[in-house]
Order: sequence, then structure tokens, then C-alpha cells
Amino acid sequence: MTAGFSDMLARRESGWSLDRPFYTDPDIYRQDLEQIFYREWLYAIPACQLNKSGSYVRLQVGDYSIILVKGADGEIRAFHNTCRHRGSVICKERQGQVAKLVCAYHQWTYELDGRLLWARDMGADFDPSRFHLRPVHLRELCGLIYICLADEAPDFETYAAVARPYLEVHDLHRAKVAHTSSIVEKGNWKLVWENNRECYHCAGSHPALCRSFPLDPEIAGVSPDGSISPRLQAHFDRCEAAGAPAQFRLGGDGQFRFARMPLQETAVSYTMDGKAAVRRPLGHVALPDAGSLLAFHYPSTWNHFLPDISLTFRVTPIGPQETEVTTTWLVDQDAVEGVDYDLDRLTEVWIHTNDEDREIVEANQQGINSPAYTPGPYSPVEESGVTQFVDWYADSMSRALGLRAVAAE
Ligand code: FES
Ligand SMILES: [Fe+2]
Repeated sequence: MTAGFSDMLARRESGWSLDRPFYTDPDIYRQDLEQIFYREWLYAIPACQLNKSGSYVRLQVGDYSIILVKGADGEIRAFHNTCRHRGSVICKERQGQVAKLVCAYHQWTYELDGRLLWARDMGADFDPSRFHLRPVHLRELCGLIYICLADEAPDFETYAAVARPYLEVHDLHRAKVAHTSSIVEKGNWKLVWENNRECYHCAGSHPALCRSFPLDPEIAGVSPDGSISPRLQAHFDRCEAAGAPAQFRLGGDGQFRFARMPLQETAVSYTMDGKAAVRRPLGHVALPDAGSLLAFHYPSTWNHFLPDISLTFRVTPIGPQETEVTTTWLVDQDAVEGVDYDLDRLTEVWIHTNDEDREIVEANQQGINSPAYTPGPYSPVEESGVTQFVDWYADSMSRALGLRAVAAE
């Protein structure tokens, strides 16, 4: 491990950006993978992305290649994409549809539930039941699929129990994928998150988003003392009276958060004119101006669930200074493109916003790469969410390494 990693964690000051190696050093990046991404539950895909028997997607998390595949019984399972013969990857494409999982090297053939069905000339003593594909932990939560690479997965139910009432009203089991975009940002995954957790930069960078998303720091951040302004509380109360859980809820030692936040007064969705993006809504949120259910679950996902559409974002580290961000736009399965929604209109705000965020993150990384960089202070007013993320990161890392927990100031 990088000399001084524990020291750097221990002497870190809450409310300040991290020391340079946290954003640049390959050894610390490896620790981030091993202690966080290989241990925690990670958001993978919306379940509706796999809509037929044999539909699969391949995901890469650090060194792990994983396949998620829908079985003939309708169940989605996750497996390591590593053949039990001599280890070749089985699925090479990012997604597709197959009748069986066939390794191209020597054609070992697996059932969609992972059982080895066929292997040629392996001798009389060969026992195929010893060579099932290795499973990866998987949970479905209201139409969202999470996976965990750890041998023993941490508790998922605490998160799921909090999440369910917020998510149920969005009917994600009725969703279809209208569009997916994956972009690569040349920046450390923590910089992607830091940027996501504040809107201090929004006025200067996001003209399209700012047509609907408010600049009020209370919307993007977390209140350090847990207080909620009367205006925001009134919004939560209106939503809850209409049957849409809204109250701010931070849980899992800061790993996840839910809050249904208002948009700009005249906006109901993330469109250039603020009007609904889809005529046939996904979900049954009765209040058109309920705003956006802002949900995050570190280290892999932030989400926006609106009365008409849902948006999921997945954060996947690719290298110390490279991160993939995958955005998925979900609409009701009966909404017809060109009739109920226009794809450009549906996607333009977040396509622009993601690209603007990519530029910001890359510029941040470049500046940090200079030896002249030293940690700087987060705004207590505008960047409480960044402080919360970095505290979660440092505390989780300290715990995973068996160090004393770093007390948040
Ligand atoms: S490595 Fe897969 S069949 Fe040989
Ligand atoms: Fe942004």
C-alpha cells in the first residue's frame, strides 16, 4: 500500500478536499476497488433492460467481468464472466441475447441459470455439476438490480426497507429503457461524485439543467444539523399528503439518501421548457410538481425519479483517472416514441449536463495532477453534500482497513 495512506486518512480534515494521491495514485485506486467497489452493493441496471429470456449485459468492475442474464424462468442472475474450463470470458459484447451461454474457446455450454450443460471430450469421470458459472450476489429492489462482488455480501435489507416506499410509487416494474448513454470522464471516481454532490457549479456550467433544477443549496446538499427549512418541509408535506414519500432521509452511515426535492416553480421535469417529457407517465405520483426524488447510494449510483420519467446513473471506475458514467432514461412501457415522447427532448438536458460535468471533472483532475495542488475548503453553505460524501469515503476506507474511524467534524 502507498506509504502514508493511513496517515493521510487519519490527518485528513473534514470539510477539505483530499490530498493529491487520493485522486491520482494507482495504489490508492486499487484500495478503492478492493475495500469499496469489491465489497459494497453496487447498482447494476434497471431490471427492464433485460426483457427477454437470454438477454444479457456485461459489466466490468475493476478486474471483474460480470454478466447479468435473464433466465427462461424470468429470473435475472449474475455470474462471473469467466469460463470454468480455462477461464476465457464467455460474453464479449456489452449486451445481447443468447439461447445458452457458450464459451467461444472450446464451446463449453452453460444454461442461463449457470449450470454447465455440455463440454466435449472431458472423459468419463468428468462431473459437470462441479463447474457451474460462479454466481455474483444479486438483489432486485423495485425494478433496480444491485450486485455485490464480496464473498459475503453486506446487509442489503436495511437500505431496501428505506428505499421501497420512496420507489414503489414510480412503478419501475412497468419501465422500459428509452435511452442509455455511457461517457468516460478522465477523472478519478471521487471527483465525479464530489461534482455530483453540489450545485455550487450549476449556475456557471449548466444552462440547460438550470431551467428546471433550483440553485437553492438546500436542494443539492445535506443540512449539517439535520434542519429542514419551512419551505422545503411544506413541499415534503404536500408530496406525502398526495401519497409520494418525500421526507429527507440519510441512512447506512451516510451511504444512501432519499429526498423528493422541488424543481423550479414552473418546472415538472428535466426539459428545456420545464414541461413533462412524456405524455404517459411512468409511476403514479399524483402531484405533477412533486419534483425529483433525489437518491444516491455510494459508491455506484445517483438517481432522479420524477412524476413522468426516471433516470438512473451508474458510476464505474475504470482507472485512477478515468470513470465511466452510464445514464439510463426510463419511461412507461406503453409510452411510444414519437407519439408520447420525443427522444431528443427527453434526453437533451442530461446529455448536455453530463457533458458539462465531464469537462468540469476533467479540468479538476488536471489541476490536481499538478504538484502545486493542495487541499482546499468546501463551502459550508453550498458544498455540504461534498463534505458528506468525502466523510463517507474516508470513514468507510478507515473501517475497511481496520483504522480508527475518522470523526466527521
Ligand atoms: S476456456 Fe471456455 S471452453 Fe475452454
Ligand atoms: Fe453538474
